[in-house]
This record gives sequence, structure tokens and C-alpha cells, in this order.
Amino acid sequence: MTQEAHVTQGPLTTEAGAPVADNQNSETAGLGGPVLVQDQLLLEKLAHFNRERIPERVVHARGAGAYGTFTVTRDVTQWTRAKFLSEVGKQTETFLRFSTVAGNLGAADAVRDPRGWALKFYTEEGNYDLVGNNTPVFFIKDAIKFPDFIHTQKRDPYTGSTEADNVWDFWSLSPESTHQVTWLFGDRGIPASYRHMNGYGSHTYQWNNEAGEVFWVKYHFKTDQGIRNLTQAEADRLAGEDPDSHQRDLRQAIERGDFPTWTVQVQIMPAADAAAYRFNPFDLTKVWPHEDYPPIEIGRLELNRNPENIFAEVEQAIFSPAHFVPGIGPSPDKMLQGRLFAYGDAHRYRVGINADHLPVNRPHATVARTNSRDGLLYDGRHGGAKNYEPNSFGGPHQTDRPLWQPVPVAGATGNHAAPVHAEDNDFVQAGALYRLMSEDEKARLVENLAGFIAKVSRDDIVERAIGNFRQADGDFGKRLDAAVQALRG
Ligand code: NDP
Ligand code: HEM
Repeated sequence: MTQEAHVTQGPLTTEAGAPVADNQNSETAGLGGPVLVQDQLLLEKLAHFNRERIPERVVHARGAGAYGTFTVTRDVTQWTRAKFLSEVGKQTETFLRFSTVAGNLGAADAVRDPRGWALKFYTEEGNYDLVGNNTPVFFIKDAIKFPDFIHTQKRDPYTGSTEADNVWDFWSLSPESTHQVTWLFGDRGIPASYRHMNGYGSHTYQWNNEAGEVFWVKYHFKTDQGIRNLTQAEADRLAGEDPDSHQRDLRQAIERGDFPTWTVQVQIMPAADAAAYRFNPFDLTKVWPHEDYPPIEIGRLELNRNPENIFAEVEQAIFSPAHFVPGIGPSPDKMLQGRLFAYGDAHRYRVGINADHLPVNRPHATVARTNSRDGLLYDGRHGGAKNYEPNSFGGPHQTDRPLWQPVPVAGATGNHAAPVHAEDNDFVQAGALYRLMSEDEKARLVENLAGFIAKVSRDDIVERAIGNFRQADGDFGKRLDAAVQALRG
């Protein structure tokens, strides 16, 4: 039933559909007497209200989403057999949820934080989710560190506030964060809106073609609206004046037909290059410099339809890096491997075991044929069909063809750090980023970092934090040191 039908047809009813006589006065024993337990409408309304919230996402709680269309603009069949990418001009429906990372559900949009970029392609071979960010790298490179990292971004267990001490203690003791932190405190750390920023798949993924050849890919979504950012002062003001600024901007742009678009590019590395590449190609704290693997334009993404119901379509939307389609798969990136588990687990806790059946989450261009049944809020969609495989009753059967190609491995099991390649260290790309910034941006970067580091209570943490930026670039470290000392007196 559409929203309109709910609003316009017939009398107000209870959840069971019985007409409601009085929605203003609860039922009492006589005039001015106590309320009766037989007033089922009152009890039903209060009980339902108490259960209106589901757990918010443990990260990326605050967000906004929109439907759209992905169009292929270049033949990529030499690299992947994914059907939705099989022909120039082919279009696929999408749903994109943008978010901030650290804030709770009601937090302001205009804050310094990475922005989530969770993109669902409703393909004819199943839903493909690309769960990325607006930055090409990340703070850490092993999933085992993620809960500790996020604890430092959230509220301290004793003070109940976010604490500069915790943030800088962790970052300074995790020097691999230096690249992402440099990016975050630069101009792109506070986008002016969701429309004015790029999206990145961030991780390296596998593409494989009909012949079974393997390629490693990185995705880039370049905003056609142009990059626009807010200064710290502009953001501080906007966060107070209009906490929903990014969400409102996206909805209103789509309402007026000003559909935001992104040019989609990939960097492609033949599998044979990976072992000898100068950087570990599966290290999430590193980019592949464009001069090594030039971005190739392959498509266009347009957002053109707002969700009708935020709770149903945005709050209950689920995205998983483990949702692949034939021709696309994971890389051995240790962060990605952890994420392959984390999201499905979060969905089962947050939305429930049948979350995939909701309209925003289920496949739109094919149907899911599984033998999973029942569970909370199961809608009986499978009718009387057999629920096991193999069976002799025409049930669905396996294809014998894996979605992705096997990856060779060597050596013994162990708690190994990711392999270090010829030019890898935690600072080289942070330095390159600093040096590509304009003089004005460098000054803002130093000011933004210094303002935050100066809040740290312990000298050893301050010194260690500045030391990491000094290793990235001598000038960067010198200027930051001077700015922090000036603030700390
Ligand atoms: P590249 O040409 O490979 O990368 C330069 C890219 O940096 C640009 O294309 C742009 O990415 C991005 N960029 C430009 N200005 C800024 C800024 N102020 N803040 C953040 N990103 C910016 O050059 P290098 O190999 O020398 O890389 C230098 C640094 O560029 C890297 O260390 C990395 O931090 C950053 N970078 C690299 C990307 C890559 O894929 N190689 C992607 C994004 C950032 P875009 O075109 O995506 O807008
Ligand atoms: C959301 C875990 C790293 C992007 C989430 C959620 C969890 C999670 C549990 C909430 C999911 C939900 O409730 O639906 C992790 C873990 C990580 C990690 C364990 C590291 C190992 C990353 C990285 C990126 C990323 C590196 C981007 C490159 C996102 C996005 C969302 C999200 C965009 C929001 C999805 C949505 O809109 O529903 N993450 N995350 N995460 N994460 Fe991660």
C-alpha cells in the first residue's frame, strides 16, 4: 500500500485494523477516574512508541541516502565479467548512503570526520555493495585495531566526552595513521556537502574476466559538482545553525531536479605486478600514485530519487563489503578481510536476521533463492517450496563457478604484519600529500592540527604526535611544533 493510501483511505484503526472511535481521550473509570487496562488503543500506542528505535550503527550512525543510476561509459570486459559492467550504456539502479563516522544518530553534519560512501548496485546477478569513504586511505591497516581506534573517537568511559588525549595517544602510537590524519585535517576534512566531495572504494578489490585472469582495482568517484569544503570556522557555525545541513542539501537538490553526478574511474593493476610494486598494493593506508596506475574512466553515477521513508530506507539499509557479484571479489587487504565479517554481523544485531528481505535491501533486478527460512519477522515469501538442497523438486542449485579467482598464499600461519614493499613506510605518502597542498592549505592544516594537539594534557603524547608529522615532512613538523608551542605557551 502506498503512503498516500495509508493517509487518505478510511478511518483511523488499531494495528489489527479495527476502527478507532476516540484518539484524543483515553478510557477512564467514570468522569475523572483512573485509566482502564481495557483501553487497548492507549496500551498499543505507548508500547509501540517504546520500541520505535533500533540500535544505531556503532559507527556511521548519522547519514542520508538517495537512489540513483549507474551508467557504463567504457568497455571493461577485458578486466571483469560482472554483468552490470558488460556493455557501454548499460544502466543499473543504485542506492547510496552518505554518513559521518564518529557522531551519534542526532549529531551535526558539518564536522571534521571522514564521510561514509556506501553504494549498493542492484545488479541482475545480485546486489553488489561498495562500502567506501570520501578518502582514498584509512587510519589503520589491520581490522584487529578497529575497535580500539573507534573507542578513541567516541566518548571516554569516565568523562563521558570525547578526549583529545585518547585520540592523540592512539594516533601517535599508530604511525600508520599519519597519512589519513594529514588528509583529515586538510581542506577536504570538512566537505561543504555530500554532493561536493569524491567517493573512494579505498580498499583494493579483485576483478576477474571470462578467461579467469585477475586484476586488482581501486575505485574513484569524482564529483562533477566540484570539490567544495568548509573551513573549521564555517563548519563550527553551520553545525550550530543547521545540524542537518548535508542531509537537507542532498534532499533539496534532488527535489529540484538538480541531480548530483560523479564520474567513475578505476585504477587497474595486473595481478602479476602486485608482488614487486613499490608499495604494498593491499595496504589501506596507501594510495597507488596516479602516475603508476592512471585512473581510467568507466562510468557515471547520478542520484535522482529521494527515499520516501527515512527509517525504512536509510536507517534499516544494510551494506556489506562481503556482497560481491560474479567477476568481483576481495583482495588480501587485512582490513577488508575483517570487514567481510563485521557488517553482516552488525546487520543481524541491528536490523535482524531477515534484514535482507526489506525493500531497500533485497535484490531489485533478480530474486534471492536461498534455503534460509523463518526467524523474526519472516514474511513467508517462499510459500511451500522445499527448503533443502540438493532436492528433486526443482529447487535452486549451485553454479560450480566461484565469484572470484583463488589467490596464492605462502608460509606458515601466524600474527603477521602485512608485507613491507620497497618504498613502504608510514610517512612517505603523508609527506607527498603535504607537499601537494597549496601554501594556504598547508597553513590551515597546521592550524587545525595544532588547535587539537594543544588540548592534549601530556607532553610525551604531544611530542610523539608532532614527531610523526616531522617524519612525513621536515617543514610540516617544524611548523606544527611552533604552532602547538605557541598555543600551549
Ligand atoms: P597523484 O597524482 O597520484 O595524486 C594526487 C591526487 O591527490 C589528486 O588527483 C587528488 O585526488 C588528490 N588531492 C589533490 N589535492 C588534495 C588535497 N588538498 N587533499 C587531499 N587530496 C588531494 O599524486 P601523488 O602520487 O604524488 O600523491 C600525492 C598524494 O595525493 C597521496 O599521498 C595521497 O595522499 C593523495 N591522493 C592520491 C590519490 C591517488 O589515488 N593517487 C587520491 C586522492 C588523494 P582526486 O583526483 O581523487 O581528487
Ligand atoms: C559502517 C565496521 C572500516 C566504511 C560500519 C559498521 C560497522 C563497521 C560494524 C556498522 C554497520 C551497520 O550497522 O550496518 C568496520 C570495521 C572496520 C571498518 C570492523 C575495519 C576493519 C571501514 C573502512 C571504511 C568503512 C575502511 C571505508 C573505506 C563504512 C561505511 C559505513 C560503515 C561507509 C556505513 C554503512 C552504511 O551507510 O550503512 N563499519 N568498519 N568502514 N563503515 Fe565500517
